[in-house]
Amino acid sequence: MTGSRGCINIIENMDRTINGLEPVAFWLLSVVGAKDTYTTHHSYYVAVLAKAIAEKIGLNQEQVEQIYLAGLLHDIGKIVIPDYILQKPGKLTKSEFAEVKKHPETGYLLLRSAGDLFKPILKYVRHHHERWDGLGYPAQLKGNEIPLGAAIVAVADAYDAMISSRPYRVAMAEAEVLAEIQKNSGTQFHPEVVEVFIRNYQEIKSNVSGDAKYAWVKRMLDCN
Ligand SMILES: [Fe+2]
Repeated sequence: MTGSRGCINIIENMDRTINGLEPVAFWLLSVVGAKDTYTTHHSYYVAVLAKAIAEKIGLNQEQVEQIYLAGLLHDIGKIVIPDYILQKPGKLTKSEFAEVKKHPETGYLLLRSAGDLFKPILKYVRHHHERWDGLGYPAQLKGNEIPLGAAIVAVADAYDAMISSRPYRVAMAEAEVLAEIQKNSGTQFHPEVVEVFIRNYQEIKSNVSGDAKYAWVKRMLDCN
């Protein structure tokens, strides 16, 4: 057997279930973490939160696991954003924000370059910044044109962004964050996703904080 044939066999025999891809996702996240630890922590939290929302919506196990993986990798495109923009403590200029806005498309292209390995989650990564009213990016999808997995990641993403402290602003109070998400239901966010999230908030929150892997992942990500 030639060396290259051996490599092909490894890829062919790779465990392509979500459980099999999870270590690959963590490895990719740790690469991002080398330049931006916030994104790695944020991505893990978004993944667990999006998974809990997807379960409450009643999606099947395969869809739930895909949404979890999409949560882990939704911001992977930030790897190409220059450090001075990612780490900037103040408000971004128009051109800096334009750079940041490229990350869903970059992440999509990066994951697509792995053949069909991440195929089920490509659209979730690409469209996680679309808005229900069509004013999001990159494709200005509107309403149900937005894949449900992307709409779920969008709510989890916004929640974690608002509840976390950043160098340029303090964290919002929990009640304020929930009110903001509710206020933007039907404009920024998918109304059904918001409804399920708000109605089951306490249960979803305790599922997330009780996630068995959280401490282990946090330690791993902190190694960067
Ligand atoms: Fe993002």
